[in-house]
Amino acid sequence: MPGGFVWGVATAAYQIEGSHNVDGRGESIWDRFSHTAGNTYQGQTGDVACDSYVRWPDDIALMRKLNVGGYRFSIAWPRVFPNGSGDLNHKGLDYYDKLVDGLLEVGITPFPTLYHWDLPQALEDTGGWINRDTAYRFADYAAVVADRLGDRVHDWWTINEPWCVAELGYRSGTHAPGRQEPREWFAAAHDVLLAHGLGMEAVRAAAPASKVGIVINVDAVMPRSVHAADQAAAAMFELQRNHWYLDPVLKGEYPQAAVDEYGWGQAEVEPGDMETIAAPMDHFGLNYYSRSVIRDESIDDRERPQPLIETDLPRTTMGWEVYPDGLSDLLIKYDREFDLPPIYVAENGVAFADELVGGAVHDEDRCAYLESHFAAAATAVEGGVDLRGFFVWSLLDNFEWQHGYTQRFGLAWTDYETQHRIIKDSGHWFSSFVGGKRPM
Ligand code: FCB
Repeated sequence: MPGGFVWGVATAAYQIEGSHNVDGRGESIWDRFSHTAGNTYQGQTGDVACDSYVRWPDDIALMRKLNVGGYRFSIAWPRVFPNGSGDLNHKGLDYYDKLVDGLLEVGITPFPTLYHWDLPQALEDTGGWINRDTAYRFADYAAVVADRLGDRVHDWWTINEPWCVAELGYRSGTHAPGRQEPREWFAAAHDVLLAHGLGMEAVRAAAPASKVGIVINVDAVMPRSVHAADQAAAAMFELQRNHWYLDPVLKGEYPQAAVDEYGWGQAEVEPGDMETIAAPMDHFGLNYYSRSVIRDESIDDRERPQPLIETDLPRTTMGWEVYPDGLSDLLIKYDREFDLPPIYVAENGVAFADELVGGAVHDEDRCAYLESHFAAAATAVEGGVDLRGFFVWSLLDNFEWQHGYTQRFGLAWTDYETQHRIIKDSGHWFSSFVGGKRPM
């Protein structure tokens, strides 16, 4: 990898911090959602999670052992503005101030994300992301955080995964706030992209030396067969899954074929919005985990011509296919299609059925997953992609949203009884890999 390449790890505030009601933190949509029956696995919540609000020095010590060069964490908006706007909670900002100083002291570069899904509940009560005003409140919050940390933090992410915010939060309702809005969800998609653009302006105004961009999650998309109906279904899926978010940010327009198909975006886009959303970024984050194989549901399998796509690839405990080629393919494809700024893989990693045996976790499957995805990233670099870093999801096992604590993505095992962090074999492997020893 090129000189200065950052090997890092990623987490998010609600998934690790706990301390949900201390030091003036306000309620977030994830508090409300996880405390409402039926929304998460066995009603599990992030109330305690990995206790990182208290144990952040342990996390930093762990990162040192893992040879981590960069830490992508997120800032909890409701710690900073308990009601989303209005009164500032200095204690909330103090926490991130300490964390940043602690990272810098040991030479780990902070890469904070300003929004990783924990919207203040007070803003959801006035419409959440379906209310355009939320984007402006986000910019106010971003300005305050950048003003406080921008003398030491130079690498920022505005929004994590707008697809998840809009699609899972406001269409399928599997994520907080759990709304199912077959049409209005588009406003959430647009408003969260607008928040990115306005947030970028706010960060730059407060901390001019900043580098800032968005993180978008994409799937490798393939048709189930060469049948024209499957191909058309896959093409449309790729537009709504990936390009609905990539194109506005990187080209300043929603994909026209999807606009025509679904009629989205007629009312919500105001003059000037697309220019704000598409303002050039300093860097761009791509999250990649898996592939989606798409079929036209109206076609009977017997009508599907060969060749069918191979679908018995290994799967993770999330049910996601392990498909490393998708990462190199997409990086190279986007590099050709868009005028990309420097790019980071801002998340990639895997949940498998880990077991703690005799104080160790022998997760060879995770080592293999990471090795194959690191190799895919190297292929993209050889193909000319200006990739600057790779962040593994995640530093440690944590609260995996609606799945609660059932999905273990960590390089370290979290013992939720004792809050001990135990480095898995994959963590040792990562540490040696980054340290230049290149095992396996
Ligand atoms: C991503 C999220 C992250 C985590 C991983 C597994 O979509 O950004 O918080 O849930 O998936």
